[in-house]
Order: sequence, then structure tokens, then C-alpha cells
Amino acid sequence: MSKKVILSGVQSTGNLTLGNYLGAIKNWKKMQEDYECHYMIANLHTLTIRNDPEKLRSNTLNLLALYIAAGIDPEKSNIFIQSQVASHAELAWVLNCFTYMGELSRMTQFKDKSTKHADNINSGLFTYPVLMAADILLYQADLVPVGEDQKQHLEITRDIAERFNGIYGKTFKIPEAYIGENAARVMGLQDPTSKMSKSSVIPNDSIFLNDEPDEIMKKFKKSVTDSENIVRFDVKEKPGISNLISIYSAITRKK
Ligand code: TYM
Repeated sequence: MSKKVILSGVQSTGNLTLGNYLGAIKNWKKMQEDYECHYMIANLHTLTIRNDPEKLRSNTLNLLALYIAAGIDPEKSNIFIQSQVASHAELAWVLNCFTYMGELSRMTQFKDKSTKHADNINSGLFTYPVLMAADILLYQADLVPVGEDQKQHLEITRDIAERFNGIYGKTFKIPEAYIGENAARVMGLQDPTSKMSKSSVIPNDSIFLNDEPDEIMKKFKKSVTDSENIVRFDVKEKPGISNLISIYSAITRKK
């Protein structure tokens, strides 16, 4: 029997956070043992913000190094750079013609990012999920290991694929999101009501994979908790403590 196909990727906007690692890459590593895996460096997706070309080139290669350091084995998995495979952008154009403005305007990431980058709301930011759909559908992927914030993009990918198949016959496999049980949404250490993000402007909010160990300890020690003198898991009432418990559980594999 042929192996199931996996595709996933991370944007090459510099460093990786602990959220990227626990939410996605940690699962990629496990999957490469049993599946046909394609792990992409999503450098075209980064063009929605303004980049220095030199920096983008070095970020792309740094991300490749981080994939390997995180355990993605080039002997077992296909690691590639999105911009080097022209079919991604080509299929994105075709799929754009099967995607409605209305459904794209419901994407929460578009709403968040257009608030964050109010001076540069370009159409790439709007059609970004279509490029992601092309990435996935091009490989006829069965499963897409991602963190919870990408779930909506997986849903629109399925809708686009089903629409296309409905018109032209079975062309694309309908992919499923694979969202791990633990740490699917790692929150910021200073603002535990927002996800930990590469672009957080709050100091000490994100742990980066190439932070030094003592810097990591310092960030955890400074993390926001609450005034109650008790440790318990309650995301609503105690988001800071609950986030720390989830991180601890994901790293130590204790339930
Ligand atoms: P990106 O680069 O924002 O994030 C990469 C992966 O990390 C996960 N992630 C998190 N998981 C848990 N907690 C967090 N705080 C956290 N922050 C990020 C994301 O869910 C994601 O799995 N559009 C995608 C990149 C992409 C892609 C694709 C992914 C392009 N094409 C095709 C899958 C398939 C993105 O911007 O992810």
C-alpha cells in the first residue's frame, strides 16, 4: 500500500518560536517515519510584508537549518523552497478563479494581519490562503500538520478543492488538518490571551528556538501568571498558568 502524503510549511520570516515547534514541527518529525513527507520553506508567503531581499535569502536558509536541527531528516523527507517550484504560484492563480472574495474576507488571519499592517493591505495578504491551498493540493496531500491557527485555512482549502472537483471531476484529494493534542495553540508569555508569534512586539513574549538557555529561563520566570496562590489548569480564568502547564506537558510529554 502506498504511504499517505504529508505537506506542511513555515513562513521564512526569521526565527522560529516555541509555538511553531510544538504546534507543528514536532509533529512533522514523528510523521516522517511512516508517511511520504514534503516540508516546505514558505518564502513566497512572506512577500505580503516588505522584505529586504538579502535578509529574506538568509532567513530562507536559516529556516532550512532549523528544520534539520529540529529533526527533519533530508534522507527521509523532501525539504524544499516554495519559490523554487514554479507550480505553486501557477496553481495559486488557477485556484484564485475558484475562490470567492466573500470567503476570503472571513479569514481571521486576514482580519488580524490587515489591522497589524494597516499601511500595506495588499491583495497578496487577501489571497494568501489560496497560495496555501495550492501548496497542499499540488502534492495531493492527505494530511497537513499545523497549529490551530491554520485550521480555517485548511477548511477553505477543502472548500476550494471540492468546488473544483465538483465542476471538473475528481482532480484533487481532499486534505485533512492534523492538529496535535498538545500545544496546538501556544500563547504569548506576556500576553497569554494572544498566540505566541514571531512578530510579537512585546518584549519576552515569545521564546525563539535559537535563544540561549539562560535567556529562555529568564523569559519563563518573567511570564505573566495571576494573583491566585494556586496552580491549576483553567484557560478562561488562568490563561497564563494554563499556557505554562500546556508547554510543560508538551515538552515533558506528561499529561
Ligand atoms: P506560520 O509560519 O505562521 O506558522 C508555521 C506553523 O506553526 C504553527 N504555529 C503555532 N502553533 C501553535 N502555537 C502557536 N503559537 C503557533 N504559531 C504558529 C502554525 O499553525 C503553522 O502550522 N501559511 C502558513 C505557512 C504555510 C503552510 C502551507 C502550512 C504556507 N503553505 C501549506 C501548511 C501547508 C503560515 O503562515 O504558518
